[in-house]
Amino acid sequence: MSVIEVENLQRRYRARTGLRRRSAPEVEAVRGINFEVERGELFGLLGPNGAGKTTTIKMLITLLLPSGGSARVLGYDLVRDAQEIRKRVGYVFGGDRGLYERLSAVDNLRYFSELYAVPAREQKVRIGELIELVGLTGREGERVEGYSRGMRQRLHIARGLLHRPEVLFLDEPSIGIDPVGARELRLTVARLVEQGTTVLLTTHYMFEADELCNRIAVIADGRIVAQGTPAELKQGVVSGRVVEVEVFGDAEASLEGLRALSGVISVSLEDRDQAQLVIVRVDVGAEVTSDILAHLGGLRLGRVATREPTLEDAYVQLVSGT
Ligand SMILES: Nc1ncnc2c1ncn2[C@@H]1O[C@H](COP(=O)(O)OP(=O)(O)O)[C@@H](O)[C@H]1O
Ligand SMILES: [Mg+2]
Repeated sequence: MSVIEVENLQRRYRARTGLRRRSAPEVEAVRGINFEVERGELFGLLGPNGAGKTTTIKMLITLLLPSGGSARVLGYDLVRDAQEIRKRVGYVFGGDRGLYERLSAVDNLRYFSELYAVPAREQKVRIGELIELVGLTGREGERVEGYSRGMRQRLHIARGLLHRPEVLFLDEPSIGIDPVGARELRLTVARLVEQGTTVLLTTHYMFEADELCNRIAVIADGRIVAQGTPAELKQGVVSGRVVEVEVFGDAEASLEGLRALSGVISVSLEDRDQAQLVIVRVDVGAEVTSDILAHLGGLRLGRVATREPTLEDAYVQLVSGT
């Protein structure tokens, strides 16, 4: 039995726009997704803002009802057995709200232990273990108000683990955390999985998913567009070479024409400080750089570079569907 089994799961939101309720449009946040997570796995749900990641997690922890499809967590049905699921899963949402600033880490964990009805004789040992797991040993007596965002997030993870859940859901745990803090957070998550907890994590950072996850599902616009190990995803998507052209002016109108050039696989656009960067993935061996430049001829061009594709390119290609 898989720990998480998701079958054609769907969720629509009725966006209530003011008074005209009858014209409320529906947002299809999750449009029939399928995936399974095995025991002990660290599974990543990777996708841009608005892809449907949080909605999926909220359904799996029974905070939101699905609009269609079904899912089981630890063999329990999301709708029929919500109580059983709640007892056995933990979750942590990104951001740093929900801790008591004027209390220490230990006192926060004591407070939440009471709330989650952790038996009194287990509390002390459990809190000690968790402080160590999340790397706060030595700082556990300090007030949370002096903590960095990374430390707060690790304390949140400790809180999410107080009732010894078999599965932990982490929604964008590294959001807003500096690189050093994010690395410590990744170490914490890796340690947690080593100790046997199954983790489902969402992120919009490709490198984070790559470093941590056993398997990844890439979600875009409510649909899963690719699934596999990080290595499989890279192999399946990344090929060719990348030509980057810095453009001053509006490059948007030129993109369709670029896509039509022979040898061009895909085209995307990124904003830079003063300029835009046109990123063109081309077939290996195709001599298209001069065609690309000719096509952009009407615009003022800056730096032009050719490079190997990166994971970032793979991800952009997957989520933009080009
Ligand atoms: N409560 C809500 N009411 C209406 N629309 C929502 C609500 N929550 C999320 N959405 C919409 O559903 C889509 C998916 O959102 P979400 O699951 O939060 O994505 P993600 O976590 O991947 O950024 C988005 O288009 C978002 O605007
Ligand atoms: Mg989200």
